[in-house]
Amino acid sequence: MADPFAGSGAAIDRVRVHRVAAFRRRGPALLLASAWLAFAPFVRAENGDAEARRERAAEHFRTLCTTCHGPTGQPDPDSAVVEALGVVPANLADPLFNSREPKRDWMLVIRDGGSALGLSDRMPAFGGQLDEREIQDLVLYLKTLSGEHGYPSGDLNFFLPLRTRKAFPEDEWVWKLRFTDQDERPQWRNTLEFEKRIGRRFQSVLELTHRVDDGDGSFEKFEAGGKYVLFSDADAGFIATAGATVGFPLEDERSVRRDTEILPFLAFGKWLGPSFTVQASTRAKLPVDRVRRGSVELSGIVHWVHTPWPRAIFPGLELFAEIPFDHGAGAARVDFAQVSILPQVRVGLSKRGHVALNLGVELPLNERDRYDSRAYLDLIWDFADGPFWAGW
Ligand code: HEC
Repeated sequence: MADPFAGSGAAIDRVRVHRVAAFRRRGPALLLASAWLAFAPFVRAENGDAEARRERAAEHFRTLCTTCHGPTGQPDPDSAVVEALGVVPANLADPLFNSREPKRDWMLVIRDGGSALGLSDRMPAFGGQLDEREIQDLVLYLKTLSGEHGYPSGDLNFFLPLRTRKAFPEDEWVWKLRFTDQDERPQWRNTLEFEKRIGRRFQSVLELTHRVDDGDGSFEKFEAGGKYVLFSDADAGFIATAGATVGFPLEDERSVRRDTEILPFLAFGKWLGPSFTVQASTRAKLPVDRVRRGSVELSGIVHWVHTPWPRAIFPGLELFAEIPFDHGAGAARVDFAQVSILPQVRVGLSKRGHVALNLGVELPLNERDRYDSRAYLDLIWDFADGPFWAGW
């Protein structure tokens, strides 16, 4: 593992944005902060600075945190202090838990207390005692409590897009609603998706789709599969994943594609500076009996992550293209690709951000006589972060 205290990696820069946001809210702290910023270059130039910061963070942890969180980050549920809390803090030494929590969430919790993110108010706010840099170092220190592990960092858990495949493995329920009014025939499509992490880098997925066409409803398909994180680097802010699902058609007689489909994909995510993320994916749709009728999808999205607070509205702009293998002939001939644009917003609902909406529309840029615009609503519940009703 790269030394998190040495240098100013991209991961730290991303955490630093939040300092700026925090300063806006805290007038007096601004003075102190600017004094610190003036000194920072000198402090950083000193040899052993990284070691000194690590020591200081460890010292802060020992003196301020261990009574509740335990000396290793694992709370002792039998200790009188922990019993009196009414809630046992999560085990910071557990690599799965430790890796999945984004650093910026922990910055907020430590600075503003548990209640700021819908956690227990028994987790005190330390913003009055520690400055932003100390809190940042403390978070970097907490991240070392789980030791070496191969889990991807939760800093790479980008917002779920409407069409682009997501790279980060999730423990999540997602309900996706899609509406079109193609040729004046209203069509509603409901998909329920269940995602579960397995081991360090794998995630399984099950999906069931129901369709109501002009008032006539039936189950359309069932999909099962998984994905595997090929590469992830929190400092570089980059993650790459490969996966595949198999789609089985259900009772629906009207569907054009009634073959079993194999859907392999590659997905990427990357931080672009401190407040933008980009995600891209490519997926093939391969009907097993008629591969010729298959297609390839290309898709990408940029999100503006303008605040560390999860309960906010985050705009995103997505581009999607589907390239059929067979373009047809004569009047039925279709363009090389069907291209659409999808403006959308992620709406964080709970304080923890573990319940969120994704709302958007898909506007075809060509082939408009064949494809109508579509409206989407996704409801996302990250169940690893607590029950649906917790943390509002
Ligand atoms: C008085 C007890 C107490 C002290 C002292 C304390 N904490 Fe906590 N902390 C808690 C509790 C309780 C929770 C769990 C809140 C929950 O799960 O609802 C928590 C949660 C957290 C979390 C969030 C974990 C998550 O679920 O995402 C972090 C990070 C954290 N504490 C860091 C610290 C640090 C760093 C310090 C010292 C600077 C500290 N805590 C001091 C009680 C304490």
